[in-house]
Amino acid sequence: MTHVIRVGRPTVALLAFVIGACARPGTSPAPVPSPAAPATAAPGSTAPAPSAPAPETGVAARQAAVVPNPNAPKVLVIATGGTIAGVQNAPGTLGGYRAGTLTAEQITASVPELARYARVETEQFSNVASTLVTPEMWVKLAKRINVVLQRGDLAGVVVTHGTDRMEETAFFLYLTVRSNKPVVVVGAQRPATGISPDGPINLLSAVRTAASPKAVHKGVMVVMDDRILSARESRKLYQRTGGFDTGDMGMLGVVASQGPEFFFAPVRRFGERSEFDLERVDTLPKVELTMSYPGGTGQTFTTNPKGVVVATTGMTAAENATYRALRQTGVVVVTSFTSGENVNGGGGSDGPPAPARVDTTAPRDSVARPAAPPVPPVPPAVVAQHLTAAKARILLMVALTKTKNPREIQRIFNEY
Ligand code: SIN
Repeated sequence: MTHVIRVGRPTVALLAFVIGACARPGTSPAPVPSPAAPATAAPGSTAPAPSAPAPETGVAARQAAVVPNPNAPKVLVIATGGTIAGVQNAPGTLGGYRAGTLTAEQITASVPELARYARVETEQFSNVASTLVTPEMWVKLAKRINVVLQRGDLAGVVVTHGTDRMEETAFFLYLTVRSNKPVVVVGAQRPATGISPDGPINLLSAVRTAASPKAVHKGVMVVMDDRILSARESRKLYQRTGGFDTGDMGMLGVVASQGPEFFFAPVRRFGERSEFDLERVDTLPKVELTMSYPGGTGQTFTTNPKGVVVATTGMTAAENATYRALRQTGVVVVTSFTSGENVNGGGGSDGPPAPARVDTTAPRDSVARPAAPPVPPVPPAVVAQHLTAAKARILLMVALTKTKNPREIQRIFNEY
């Protein structure tokens, strides 16, 4: 269920009250020494100099300082939950918290500076920890974004999301949102009521990016800690601020003080050039994910998957045999280098089919025997190029909505 909410001043006042009350129950903000009023006595005086009033730093004061830009591009913020919408049972600490608590309207209202760069609309898609986000929700979200981006007056979309599963949702959107307009996925590693929350500054950077003409044709992006990362490559490396990165490839630019600046652009297939049409898709084919390891014998599944992704740097003979047998039953097997950093040839781990060889060793006078029944060729394994196994699984799920042919799926892995 989704609905549109507009950000208004009464909401800001409410949020300022909520956050203020959470941060210091029953107290007013502690005075902050003003740089304009040093706390030393004036020369020749024994009395302490009167200190200037501390500058107001709360949301209401920040809002009063903002001059909204009535001509700014329109950006829709679609909220799904996560720590960016999280509050803590013990406010002001970095401890336990509940993800997905504040609404889309509340989290945007906590950043009045957004109005300088965008006319923000909000929509609540869900309000959950991202571990509860399912592939069916990916499909609904992508469909919704495909619809709203058809609006001529909308410059871009920001999706607020929990960081645990952010890279997966972002990559799904990268493959299935068929628009050249920017879609920016953003989250926070610290809850909104924690000390120094990173959500507000991340949201500001995300909205500035989604509103920027420079972000057109860059595909779906993850903006965290002022970095603009391609959704194809973004990864959560650790649970602290600065924890999102891309490995060897995929950082597109930064959000500087003057706004987003791009230095690179993705060149593989995505967005408008994507062939994946979700129009008639509501659920995605089941794809399992497993790892190979020394001494491994390969995994069998009771879930009847249509595809399996194996994270591996090289399989044991027993693993090879298991996955070969699985391929023979029609399951598409994709191998993905464990780090996600390798760039494979993409010819399939069995290599291209060997040319037929003529048996020249049979004696001329040998007795004709009944021909052995033909053995069906083993469908080739598909090799993921420079994708983590988690993302290879998503691409396989999406590819299987179009075809079960491993050669065609290899083509897809080579292009996206
Ligand atoms: C979540 O993924 O929903 C919780 C963790 C986070 O957002 O950082």
